[in-house]
Amino acid sequence: MSDGDLNRGLEGIRVAETRLSDIDGEAGELTIGGYPVGELARNATYEESVFLLYNDRLPSADELDEFRTALAEHREIGDEARAVLRRAAEEEKPAMDALRMGAAAANLGTGAEDPEADARRVIAVFPTIVATYWRYREGDDPVEPRADLRHAANYLYMLTGEEPDEAAVRGVETYLNTVIDHGLNASTFTARTVVSTESDVVSAATAAVGTLKGPLHGGAPGPVLDMLNAVHEHGDPEGYVREKLEAGERLMGFGHRVYRVRDPRAAVLSDAASEFYDEAGDTDFFESIEAFEEVAVDALAEHKPGRDLDTNVEFYTAALLDGVGVPKELFTTCFAISRVGGWTAHALEQLDDNRLIRPLSSYVGDHDRSWTPVDER
Ligand code: ACO
Repeated sequence: MSDGDLNRGLEGIRVAETRLSDIDGEAGELTIGGYPVGELARNATYEESVFLLYNDRLPSADELDEFRTALAEHREIGDEARAVLRRAAEEEKPAMDALRMGAAAANLGTGAEDPEADARRVIAVFPTIVATYWRYREGDDPVEPRADLRHAANYLYMLTGEEPDEAAVRGVETYLNTVIDHGLNASTFTARTVVSTESDVVSAATAAVGTLKGPLHGGAPGPVLDMLNAVHEHGDPEGYVREKLEAGERLMGFGHRVYRVRDPRAAVLSDAASEFYDEAGDTDFFESIEAFEEVAVDALAEHKPGRDLDTNVEFYTAALLDGVGVPKELFTTCFAISRVGGWTAHALEQLDDNRLIRPLSSYVGDHDRSWTPVDER
């Protein structure tokens, strides 16, 4: 590519080296910290996944203990952040906006810290911010975090005020591990761009939350659930899909910029959701989702031949998170609660070997205009 070429969307352009995750979009494979996504997602606690990204190896039992404690002791948020979240809830701001506002307050009162301490702090407070906002939204008092619970369990505990059962914790934890990192997606690129100016990790995570919010990135799982409910009401999945595609609408939870086959994370989350619904004795809903996936993929192949539109991660995210009892309004914030592990790991990696990220644009405006004073315009 010559200097003059324009590449809208930076498709196919490599701008960083990373050891954090690798995507093979043709084969449908995802490696995180050297492990196939399924291997990591099923076995790790979220704390182990973050340690792996930060250190490129799994922790020993003692190191894990220490890392867990370091995260757990930073879960509290201050009165200032709580006041912002109460106001956001009263004004019915979307959860991602509340998270952005809460995240911006995350380093209040912590003093000057090193980037990794900032990173741990941001990871630790994200669930507290989301749960606090949600409790206010529901007219309840926030629940104080519990340091004895692991990250995923404490999140569910702060949402509901009740200690969650192991099946729900495992479901959430599998989800958090599955989406923790995914190459140079838009929000991760944002995080790297922010710290490339030698700005701080909290600013990087806050900016990344804003990027993740959009429906083309992390905003899809809520609409996926709406779609699944609408299909159920419609009663005819084929007819529903046909109507949507004929109206020029996109089917949420399908298609991906990188994958040309089924997103490997969809497989991990579909297994996790299947296990969860089996255990809960509620197989009908899950079976109808599986049947809809088949109908949708066939219809998309007919609708866009050669584009290989297949199921993406958001489709089974909706099924799994809905099953474990996370409200639909919080789906994208759950994504952020996981991905902040990846954002911060990328920010630290970028800082380790930094080069200012500064692409070019092609100017399409005029040149050499001469100034007209305001009273002559
Ligand atoms: N339903 C119907 N048609 C689709 C879909 C879909 N889900 N996805 C892509 N297409 C069509 C587009 O309309 C486009 O058609 P055109 O060439 O006639 O304009 C063609 O397929 C190519 O699509 P692009 O927009 O070029 O694909 P891109 O790589 O930019 O977008 C994206 C990928 C944004 C995920 C897209 O597939 C989409 O909007 N999907 C639905 C939303 C969604 O599920 N988002 C979550 C993504 S996963 C994640 O970020 C974690």
